[in-house]
Amino acid sequence: FQIRASAYGDELVRTAKSIASPGRGILAIDESNATCGKRLASIGLDNNETNRQAYRQLLLTTPGLGEYISGAILFEETLYQSTTDGKRFVECLREENIVPGIKVDKGLVPLPGSNNESWCQGLDGLASRSAEYYKEGARFAKWRTVVSIPCGPSALAVKEAAWGLARYAAISQDNGLVPIVEPEILLDGDHPIERTLQVAEKVWSEVFFYLAENNVIFEGILLKPSMVTPGAEHKEKASPETIAKYTLTMLKRRVPPAVPGIMFLSGGQSEVEATLNLNAMNQSPNPWHVSFSYARALQNSVLKTWKGQPENIEAAQKALLVRAKANSLAQLGRYSA
Ligand code: 13P
Repeated sequence: FQIRASAYGDELVRTAKSIASPGRGILAIDESNATCGKRLASIGLDNNETNRQAYRQLLLTTPGLGEYISGAILFEETLYQSTTDGKRFVECLREENIVPGIKVDKGLVPLPGSNNESWCQGLDGLASRSAEYYKEGARFAKWRTVVSIPCGPSALAVKEAAWGLARYAAISQDNGLVPIVEPEILLDGDHPIERTLQVAEKVWSEVFFYLAENNVIFEGILLKPSMVTPGAEHKEKASPETIAKYTLTMLKRRVPPAVPGIMFLSGGQSEVEATLNLNAMNQSPNPWHVSFSYARALQNSVLKTWKGQPENIEAAQKALLVRAKANSLAQLGRYSA
């Protein structure tokens, strides 16, 4: 039946379903040039277009990547870039049956009137940019805003985050892009897991309230939540089983089953931690596809293996496949460290 009159309605639903397909998840490599520079600096490379291209080429031309990866989030520069042989990155992804996605937000700035919190820019001109990205081959989008627990979060910051995400989601769908809805609740802080649960419930209830007010098609979105964990500086660490229990409790209370996929961010967890936690969440059936959209937890060992040396490219691609496969198994609930 008709969900809502939209030129792209059926296509959005199909795109979201193909990204949320069994045993697959998202490779997030949408670091802005500044953030990509930090990754490159960690292995002693300069932040210039050639090095960024080399790094993205290594990742996006990994043979067999599509077995484990269903979507790749790109930064604008990468959407328009090609390999050194002149093949468009978007084409490399299509050949592996990986859906190209694009980061569309314009980053965080201070939110006046809040408790040192931030808000996410990028709504101005978003419709025309999204139409352009669709023409270039992108089929989904990402908008990341953050909520800080130690800073409050204030009612103002939560409302602003939720409203911005909902406006972005409606505009993306209007232009054929499946929106990834990402209010990242930062891990920073020494609070217990119960506090994270409380904040996450508040944030997601507001997000869904405004998504509904903006007539967003729930079947044509994907979520990118933080896992519900204790603050990174809390005295006790939680087991994967505890994190899974809290996270799934929160999601079941707040996320309708119409949403096809939950694609977690890694948020500074180690590669193995992020995989173990995802695996714990897939030990019994969920109403949605529960998977990954990791950046750091898929890239850390790739960077360390590559070190910017051409002779290490193959080994670095193998390292990427190791993590991608581990997370694929975790999506199916079959990973053991
Ligand atoms: P991390 O997995 O490194 O937290 O990155 C998530 C993200 O939002 C990048 O798209």
